[in-house]
Amino acid sequence: MKHIRLRKNNLCVENIAALKLAKIYKTPFYCYSLRQLQDNYQALKDSFKSINPLICFSIKSNSNIKLLNELKKMGAGADVVSVGELLKAKKAGIKSNKIVFSGVGKTEEEIHMAVRKRVLLINVESENEVNLINKIAKRASRKIAIGIRLNPNITGKTHKKISTGGKQEKFGLTQNDFLNLCKKIKKMKNLNLEGISVHIGSQITNIEPFKKVLMVINKIIKKTQINFKFIDLGGGMGISYLKNEKPMNIKQYAKLINKFLKNKDSKIIFEPGRFIIGNVAILISKIIYIKKSAGKRFVVLDAGMNDLMRPALYDAYHQIIPLKKTNKLLKGNIEFVGPICESSDRFSTEKKFQKIKEGDYISLANVGAYGMSLSSNYNTRPFIAEIMVSGSKHKVIRKRQSLKNLVNN
Ligand code: LLP
Repeated sequence: MKHIRLRKNNLCVENIAALKLAKIYKTPFYCYSLRQLQDNYQALKDSFKSINPLICFSIKSNSNIKLLNELKKMGAGADVVSVGELLKAKKAGIKSNKIVFSGVGKTEEEIHMAVRKRVLLINVESENEVNLINKIAKRASRKIAIGIRLNPNITGKTHKKISTGGKQEKFGLTQNDFLNLCKKIKKMKNLNLEGISVHIGSQITNIEPFKKVLMVINKIIKKTQINFKFIDLGGGMGISYLKNEKPMNIKQYAKLINKFLKNKDSKIIFEPGRFIIGNVAILISKIIYIKKSAGKRFVVLDAGMNDLMRPALYDAYHQIIPLKKTNKLLKGNIEFVGPICESSDRFSTEKKFQKIKEGDYISLANVGAYGMSLSSNYNTRPFIAEIMVSGSKHKVIRKRQSLKNLVNN
């Protein structure tokens, strides 16, 4: 988080002290750095310059319309998995020829919309889905571009619940099924098979599984003899959540792909979410109560698992950073929890932490990806606000849901 860092003991988002924001906006709230977003996107673009890929931001990781709009300005496309995401991508100004539609369970309504909006590629995941798209395309007298998602039976080292490339998972088609489906699609008049897509999971920091995936794709290309117009490598590039965790080396990944692309004229598509938006935000929260029990201190925050689900869902770690750093230490187990009526509503346990008191503010780091987008109204709590900082300016990019709106729905 280069643009969200401590400056003279104050946690700053670009040029603004987070503490100042905490006094202006009602906590909890998400706070984004525009510069960080721009830097991340640019770093990705630069690293893959020689490949010149289409970078389709994975909207499921963060669907804030203002952030999507900023990404659009930088040239990003979108990876969408629902009508809602498709319409949001369009509303953010992203052109249809930069949108890929993924997902294992697209409904007829969703396929209709994808066809109507003329997306670049629909990535299919089953034979029945292919039949349905062909039927819809025929009725519309159109020829629709599709890609097939391959299940390469390769998994990256990541949390079991965000791993998608193993054959026991619901995603994609096995190599055999892929080959058989290619033959069937050839005979379908209203479909153009233009792509092969893979996505083996999320938060992968090691390059090896990606190397294996490229090998499997090569095998498929040889067997099918299809010159795919698009090779969609999905997302999954991991970031650093833990102190000693290294983000995925994208320069090395680019080298691999360069080699892979020799003698091919396919266009590479990426669908990154986390790598672009993960370290762009913090979640600012206030300490409501501190209570001692069972030999530890429970620090009860005003942010709960409904605002940030990742720790409860995946035991994910988000570093807790006080907005004002001091050197006085608290010892013993300090457990940061939320106010929700669930035991899993806990963020992390620290062995030592600086002295804190009720009313102080802290932040949870690296929450830009799958933070707000996974949040809910559980316990009938309103969706919290999203704030964006740019230099010394700050603005609301999504208002906190009003109690009235919450109660009337
Ligand atoms: N493409 C496909 C087909 C996907 O399923 C996903 C993520 C992505 C791209 C983007 O992956 P990324 O670059 O962000 O790793 N909620 C979980 C992550 C679930 C990922 C689902 N699919 C979490 O909070 O860790």
